[in-house]
Amino acid sequence: MILVTGGAGFIGSNFVLDWLAQSGEAIVNLDKLTYAGNLENLASLQDNPNHIFVQGDLGDSALVAQLLAQHRPRAVVNFAAESHVDRSIHGPEDFIQTNIVGTFRLLEAVRAYWLALPEADKTAFRFLHVSTDEVYGSLTKDDPPFAEDNRYEPNSPYSASKAASDHLVRAWHHTYGLPVVTTNCSNNYGPYHFPEKLIPLMIVNALAGKPLPVYGDGQQIRDWLYVKDHCSAIRRVLEAGTLGETYNIGGWNEKPNLEIVHTVCALLDELRPKADGSSYATQITYVTDRPGHDRRYAIDARKIERELGWKPAETFETGIRKTVEWYLANSDWVAHVQNGSYRDWVSKQYAGSVA
Ligand code: NAD
Ligand code: DAU
Repeated sequence: MILVTGGAGFIGSNFVLDWLAQSGEAIVNLDKLTYAGNLENLASLQDNPNHIFVQGDLGDSALVAQLLAQHRPRAVVNFAAESHVDRSIHGPEDFIQTNIVGTFRLLEAVRAYWLALPEADKTAFRFLHVSTDEVYGSLTKDDPPFAEDNRYEPNSPYSASKAASDHLVRAWHHTYGLPVVTTNCSNNYGPYHFPEKLIPLMIVNALAGKPLPVYGDGQQIRDWLYVKDHCSAIRRVLEAGTLGETYNIGGWNEKPNLEIVHTVCALLDELRPKADGSSYATQITYVTDRPGHDRRYAIDARKIERELGWKPAETFETGIRKTVEWYLANSDWVAHVQNGSYRDWVSKQYAGSVA
């Protein structure tokens, strides 16, 4: 049995679905169900006794202690976080509470549980912390990609809160011996991605005939990884990662945002052509840039390949086609996540330019 936090979010739910499809080992899934948590992602597990869902906060020490005592997991995988940079700019408080205070409380509850385990279980136990490449800051065009020994230089409230959580995890290993591993991953994309993030927002807006809001000049670069590749990397690190180490996970797919948007438009033109024959690209609109916008992220993923034999299975071309096809086939999911709070967010963030 393993315990995951945040398993109703984008990456967490993909991880839970893949885990249960590939192993007979049960999962306790602790998720607060914020606006980003969606049990519909896990609907196919409704009758699966190996999925135990618990609604709650990773910072609720009593609840976490009770779950650990009751289910006795051999590992904890911490996905739960506030994850959207733009939201962190509008309101950083939740990011501090969940990403920093929540991780601290989770570490303390896990440490107490781990200390009391029998010696063999104690040795085998793992705490895997899921983090981001954004902790390393921003690269120029010619900088080498982020390696694990890069300085931490977070630039947004979100990345600062994730950096703080990484430091706590590191300290709990160094000081208390908690058996931790940390992963720092690049931008994920794929099924169940909440449409506040670039790729799903572009798909959803394009189909709705709305503007496609590109921040600034659209030349910011991200390194895209298909979410199921991220999940397989986490499984591999959990299985064989060296304690106290960090592993960078990336897709070797550096692309400027504008190219991503044009790729999405071209796929939609092919798979769901507009009645008037025009391209979805005509909907592209340049909007005010994100404050403090990091220019470029890129991951050097050679360590995880060299030490653990992990490589992404998808190219960007195969992954983005699967993603667009998934959104076209799952219009009900999209309609259901676009509830009142989603509409409020869009009108606040884009000040009427997109709604
Ligand atoms: P998400 O926002 O889609 O999902 C986060 C989940 O955590 C939601 O289900 C939410 O309900 C839950 N949650 C939030 N606060 C909670 C709390 N206090 N207690 C319990 N549950 C809580 O995020 P995601 O994109 O799936 O990201 C998952 C993790 O991966 C995060 O830690 C994020 O920093 C990291 N990450 C994400 C990406 C990416 O591209 N999405 C890349 C690298 C790292
Ligand atoms: O790098 C990993 C990170 O990737 C994760 O840690 C974060 O949780 C995840 O949200 C993601 O952060 P980004 O800020 O890179 O993702 P986002 O989808 O918000 O934006 C991707 C790029 O697209 C970024 O340069 C901003 C730009 N963008 C985004 C939106 C939502 C636009 O141009 N227009 C938009 O409307």
